[in-house]
Amino acid sequence: MSAHVITILLTGMVCLWPLSSPFAQDAPNGGKLFYKYCNMCHYDPGQDKSWRGPSLYKILGKNACESSNSVCSRAMKTAKIVWSDENLDRWLRSPQAMVPGNKMFIIGISNSAERADLIAYFKSFGN
Ligand code: HEC
Repeated sequence: MSAHVITILLTGMVCLWPLSSPFAQDAPNGGKLFYKYCNMCHYDPGQDKSWRGPSLYKILGKNACESSNSVCSRAMKTAKIVWSDENLDRWLRSPQAMVPGNKMFIIGISNSAERADLIAYFKSFGN
């Protein structure tokens, strides 16, 4: 293989990597998505307040419903979930599949990059 071909291959990899990496998260975009999909029920995760949905402030590492027990369903309180990246990703993909009978009535976010951006947005407030 000539040096020229190797250079082209390497350049291609560098360009493609951010598109394919599961770690390419975009917190500002997550903020936009939050106001599109979540804000009709949840306060912004920068505020520790619950509304129709629980507070999402510093949600990473918390138990499900730890911060806002009063708005949570029995299904959610007994689900014994700790909010890791993986669990948040599963939840946002399909809340009803993860915790049947919970009362967060959205179908879920099918785009994995959008889910990663939302999780990055939560983390931008510290955890
Ligand atoms: C229709 C209102 C509604 C929408 C829209 C909504 N949620 Fe929720 N969310 C809820 C409710 C209600 C709960 C509590 C569910 C339960 O206890 O059964 C909840 C729970 C959660 C939890 C778990 C909180 C905890 O303390 O354990 C997370 C995380 C969450 N929502 C994130 C989101 C995100 C991110 C979006 C946008 C993609 C979103 N929600 C959209 C109503 C909503």
